[in-house]
Amino acid sequence: MFETESEVLDWYERQPRAISPDFLAGIRWEEVKSHPLNPAFVPVLHYMRDVESYTAVYYRELLRTPTGRDPIIRKFMDRWGVEEMDHGALLNRFMEEAGVPTSPRWQEEALASIPLRYTLENYAAMLVTNRFGRSFSGTHMVWGAINEMTTLQAYRRLWKAAGHPVLERVLRAIAREESAHGKFYASIARLRLERSKFTRGLARFFVERFWGPVGQGTKPRSEMDYVIGALFGGGDGLGFFDEQVSRRIRRLPGLAGLETLTRRMAESGARA
Ligand SMILES: [Fe+2]
Ligand SMILES: [Fe+2]
Repeated sequence: MFETESEVLDWYERQPRAISPDFLAGIRWEEVKSHPLNPAFVPVLHYMRDVESYTAVYYRELLRTPTGRDPIIRKFMDRWGVEEMDHGALLNRFMEEAGVPTSPRWQEEALASIPLRYTLENYAAMLVTNRFGRSFSGTHMVWGAINEMTTLQAYRRLWKAAGHPVLERVLRAIAREESAHGKFYASIARLRLERSKFTRGLARFFVERFWGPVGQGTKPRSEMDYVIGALFGGGDGLGFFDEQVSRRIRRLPGLAGLETLTRRMAESGARA
């Protein structure tokens, strides 16, 4: 375990990229069409691709908050932002190779489809954030940890369920990077939560009150529910989520016994 935030950043910066030029050159795109892709997973790929590309929006928003002005987090975010955009681009390439219709302007179109309500809510959230200042960065870090871990587990579920070897290869590489993101967020979160009771209370309050599956607010609820249902539906999927994500988050200071995450996933999957 890390003792300072600089150690966390040093660790992160020492991780080689899983999506390296060598990795990209070795992907057998020409084999994509030799394996069937269950059409039930096409909306899942679309959703994940778009949510990856929304990182550009979060990045810009975070820069305007105390979290984005923190030098350690800022250094992490500069690499993180690039990696998430690469994930979106890779998923899009896979869809193209699989013959799924995609638009050359998919990034602009995905951004344009974010509802105005989300933009306004974020503006309001930013005003709140700036009032709480540095204490709120702890909440951002918990939030980031939850979302990175959820994304990682979603990719694992997807490659197992889809049974497509090229997709699996791509998703395993993306998952390695998501895993490093999750570890960065969770490690910084732990250090900040340990330090302050106020930060612990704030983080717990915001997660219990507002957390929803990744993409909530930016994507229509029906699409989110479909993805959650497809990947984490049924008792087995929820058990997996609880074990892999909720249990880890419950180990952070101040978050023992947190039921919110698994419950919101269950509610979303049940609506699908
Ligand atoms: Fe990603
Ligand atoms: Fe990530």
